[in-house]
Amino acid sequence: MAKIIVVTGASTGIGAQTARLLAEGNQIFIHYNASREAAEQTATEVQERGGTAHLVQADLFTEAGCDALYSEVSVMTNRIDVLVNNAGGLVQRQGVSEFEWGMMERVFALNTFSTMLLTSLFVPLLEKGTDPCIVNISSVAARTGAPTATIYGAAKGAVDSFTRGAAAELAPEIRVNAVAPGVIETPFHERYSTPERMEQFREKTPLKHHGRAADVARAILFLIENSFITGETIDVNGGLFMR
Ligand SMILES: NC(=O)c1ccc[n+]([C@@H]2O[C@H](COP(=O)([O-])OP(=O)(O)OC[C@H]3O[C@@H](n4cnc5c(N)ncnc54)[C@H](OP(=O)(O)O)[C@@H]3O)[C@@H](O)[C@H]2O)c1
Repeated sequence: MAKIIVVTGASTGIGAQTARLLAEGNQIFIHYNASREAAEQTATEVQERGGTAHLVQADLFTEAGCDALYSEVSVMTNRIDVLVNNAGGLVQRQGVSEFEWGMMERVFALNTFSTMLLTSLFVPLLEKGTDPCIVNISSVAARTGAPTATIYGAAKGAVDSFTRGAAAELAPEIRVNAVAPGVIETPFHERYSTPERMEQFREKTPLKHHGRAADVARAILFLIENSFITGETIDVNGGLFMR
């Protein structure tokens, strides 16, 4: 049976690649915020791969945006099988001595609160799905810490912890897992990382290259397909945690 899948932040990067990978024979809700044209491109590619695409716009910095996303999906379907909480971002680099309350709120709202609230809102639709599951997107920054991105790292650490708690509470009906990417070449780093910083990341990575969105999308697909995994966070980071 065709799966009904919601991918947040599917206009660009990891979310767009995930929507493309999951497209064949499935119905994909492609969420975006500002990048309408890119989201339309994702939708075209989903359709070319034999999927059905629905575009949904919502600003996930706000509770109202999360509610709007849920409302728009729920008028079109009474069940979903997969929720990929992928939308996120660093928002702004800031040193520890420069923190502002509003910035902290924005980073947590986008990366953590939206993941939590969308999970909560979509549970009733997931309960009607087949082998339903949620995949959250964490980050290597949750484990390593990240200078000038400490709030972002903490927000993703909360996503990991939320993943385990939600998995425990929602079992056995709904599986909840996460993927923690290392440095992946997407528009994320065009915005937040200089070429010098990117080179330092590459040098530190045992596999000596950055990841691609497809590397993360394949890990998401694996978690969707494996019905005996829940409460896990899978690292996709080129070997950073080898000991
Ligand atoms: N790239 C990496 O190295 C890396 C590493 C670790 C974790 N991650 C995580 O992976 C996820 C995907 O990031 P990416 O690398 O694919 O970056 P990306 O290409 O910048 O994609 C970010 C996505 O999030 C959406 N988004 C941003 N702000 C939003 C808002 N206020 N409301 C709703 N949606 C919003 C964007 O939508 P619009 O453009 O339409 O606004 C876009 O679709 C994020 O959670 C990120 O934190 C990335």
